[in-house]
Amino acid sequence: MSMEPMDALYIALLISILFVLSSTADAEIHYHDFVVQETPVKRLCRTNNIITVNGQIPGATLEVRDGDTLVIKVLNNARYNVTIHWHGIRQLGTPWADGPDLITQCPIQPGYSYTYRFTIINQEGTLWWHAHTGWLRATVYGALIIRPKLGSTYPFELPKLEIPILLGQWWNGDIIRIQNQVMFSGGAPNISNAYTINGQPGDLYRCSSKDTMKFYVESGDRILMRIINSALHQQLFFTIANHKLIVVGVDALYTRPFTTTTLMLGPGQTTDVILVADQAPGYYYIAARAYESSQNAPFDPSTTTAILAYRYAPCSSQIGPQLKPILPTLPNYNDSATVTAFTSQLRSPTNVSVPTDITEDLFFAVGLGLVNCNPGPTCQGPNNTRFTASMNNVSFLLPQTTSLLQAHYLNIPNVFTTDFPPVPPLPFDYTGNVPQALWQPIFGTKLYKLKFGSQVQIVLQDTAIVSTESHPVHLHGYNFYVVGEGFGNFNPGTDTSAFNLYDPPQRNTVTVPVGGWSVIRFVADNPGVWLMHCHIDSHLTWGFAMSFLVENGPEKLQSVQAPPLDLPPC
Ligand code: C2O
Repeated sequence: MSMEPMDALYIALLISILFVLSSTADAEIHYHDFVVQETPVKRLCRTNNIITVNGQIPGATLEVRDGDTLVIKVLNNARYNVTIHWHGIRQLGTPWADGPDLITQCPIQPGYSYTYRFTIINQEGTLWWHAHTGWLRATVYGALIIRPKLGSTYPFELPKLEIPILLGQWWNGDIIRIQNQVMFSGGAPNISNAYTINGQPGDLYRCSSKDTMKFYVESGDRILMRIINSALHQQLFFTIANHKLIVVGVDALYTRPFTTTTLMLGPGQTTDVILVADQAPGYYYIAARAYESSQNAPFDPSTTTAILAYRYAPCSSQIGPQLKPILPTLPNYNDSATVTAFTSQLRSPTNVSVPTDITEDLFFAVGLGLVNCNPGPTCQGPNNTRFTASMNNVSFLLPQTTSLLQAHYLNIPNVFTTDFPPVPPLPFDYTGNVPQALWQPIFGTKLYKLKFGSQVQIVLQDTAIVSTESHPVHLHGYNFYVVGEGFGNFNPGTDTSAFNLYDPPQRNTVTVPVGGWSVIRFVADNPGVWLMHCHIDSHLTWGFAMSFLVENGPEKLQSVQAPPLDLPPC
């Protein structure tokens, strides 16, 4: 039988339609409703009314694949303004969905809603979502897990189990009230009452043991553990008794696998590890507690635990007390050497193309500060001062009347200036004995403009103002390479030659070493207004932040599009 030319055309058309359908059918659209609401939650022997998403803490784990689209309607039924940020999502083409309050949108006011829509583009691994208004993210957070596209797989042996671990920080009381008190007094923030694993403090706290998280495994299981530091203010060490951890990714970027016993995660950071259940069947504590690098900051010294429980462990009635889980030893609170040992092993899996024609060579001195004031209730910092924080001596002020992205897109004047300094206005011995005259920053809403496609390098230099301290610095809208880190003052003459331009790790949140520096690089290929800040929320509120204004590129997909119609009014 011979085929008419017309039939052949039809068949070809049909085949191509089927092909298109099957390749787009792989990508899914996930619809979610997030109702932000006040929820009574009992922890540490008392009931608190906290703000949650859908009554849960942590909130829902979102599970998607690379290429999928998320459509999340956030209805604010609480009494505080709220926004939600999708931490680590690049938001290519969707800057209005990023979420930081007054940066890319005005907040969703009580009684109102906003629908966040974005597509995952070439990202795989563990991210998370959290409130980005005030300190609400203390209780408003959850995991965002991105698996490889259908037909593709992890760059490591398929694990039998996946366990998300969200480390949190708990206060008895209303966190917004606590924030308001701290901001009123100018003093140091109250220390938390507990740390938590998936919302539970664990066996070492009062009234908590019956709800301790237990993760059941069988001997020989390979487990992919996705660990997220969602604590509000504290960098944390993490370890599991008697077990080794093979690190395979950080911040939803794969790493060259390496084995360790202890992780350190700053707020905002995630680490994926493979854990093999290769120990004698029994109960082992998973534990986290503070890494505190600041010399005199008060902090919560307690330890949160969960239990790794081998399913065929003999049951407790038969054996008795020796079945108490084994508690691991954690590093000392100020053990920066363990942190360096961890971060210095991070590598990309293979050779990567790091930007090398640097067109924007930036140097940001970052850290705390003190503002002198008159003795009184609003001057409760050390020696009649108020705590503050800054980047290049500018303490970041949020705009008052509209968001930065709206001001940029609509050309609204007098909302921000673009004179954020590329280098410290007055260079000094950053990690030495800093004269008191340099402890007070100026205040402003200063942005730094980047041409589309610029190749950016930023030296993030910690200062000794108030105290040297390790800071988790997060950049919205981008991943960056961490090409170098060290202690003391960055010295371009000697330190540049030691950069790793071959296989540096990529991240969205870098741990700047205490009294040291990190150097990051990225290409400014995502137009919009992108916040960079310390992910310790007290530091952010004190002004440890700035924003980049990345200009439009030549193509349509390289420019900021009109905002969605339901973008909350200011
Ligand atoms: Cu995880 Cu600006 O946020």
